[in-house]
Amino acid sequence: MKFFIDTANLAQIKEAQELGILDGVTTNPSLMAKEGITGTNNILKHYVAICNIVDGDVSAEVIATDFEGMVREGEILADLHPQIVVKIPMIKDGIKAIKYFSDHGIRTNCTLVFSVGQALLAAKAGASYVSPFIGRLDDISTDGLNLIDEIRTVYDNYGYETEILAASVRHTMHIVECAKLGADVITAPLSAILGLLKHPLTDSGLAQFLADYKKGN
Ligand code: G3P
Repeated sequence: MKFFIDTANLAQIKEAQELGILDGVTTNPSLMAKEGITGTNNILKHYVAICNIVDGDVSAEVIATDFEGMVREGEILADLHPQIVVKIPMIKDGIKAIKYFSDHGIRTNCTLVFSVGQALLAAKAGASYVSPFIGRLDDISTDGLNLIDEIRTVYDNYGYETEILAASVRHTMHIVECAKLGADVITAPLSAILGLLKHPLTDSGLAQFLADYKKGN
C-alpha cells in the first residue's frame, strides 16, 4: 500500500519523506489556505516546492468547475512538474475533464467521491486515482470504510486500473483497516501515520532491554 501525506505543510512533508516511507502528497484548497498560501503564483510555487521534497505523486487541485476552465488550469498544473497529478472534483464537467486528460496522457485524481457509482464513473473516464472521503462519511453516520470495500470489489470485477486512494483519513485505525480492505493508497495527516509506530509493549520492552544492558555494563 502506498502512503501519501495529506497536507501542504512543508515541514511535515519533509519529516515524512525523511522517515523513508512516503510515496506522495495530496493537497486541496483548504489545506493550502491553512498554510497561508494564497494567490495563484504562490500556490503554483508551493506545488513545485512540494515536488522538490517528495519522491512521488503530488495532487494539485483545480479551482474551475467548468470543463474548459478545468482543462486550462489542469494543463498549467501538469506543466509545473512531472510529479503533478491533476485533482478534479467528481462533477459532470469533471468527468469530461478526466477523460480529456486521460486521452492526453495527463494523470488525474478524482476527488470528493462518496459513492460506488461515482467511483465507477471516475474509473470509466480513466482517472489515475479515485479519492473516497472516508472520514466525512463517518461524520454523517455512514460507514466510510465500507465504501472502500465496495469500490475494491467493483474495480476488481472489471480490472479497472484506477488506484483507490483512501482520503479524509482521520486516525491510525483508518489506515490499518484500509490496508486490510485492499486500498491501493492512503492519504493521511502525519499524526495518523506516526500513530502506527506506537505500542506500549514496544516502549516497556525497550526500556527493559536498556535497563538490563546498563546492569551488565
Ligand atoms: O484528502 C482529502 C482530505 O483532505 C479531506 O480530509 O479531514 O478534511 O475530511 P478532511
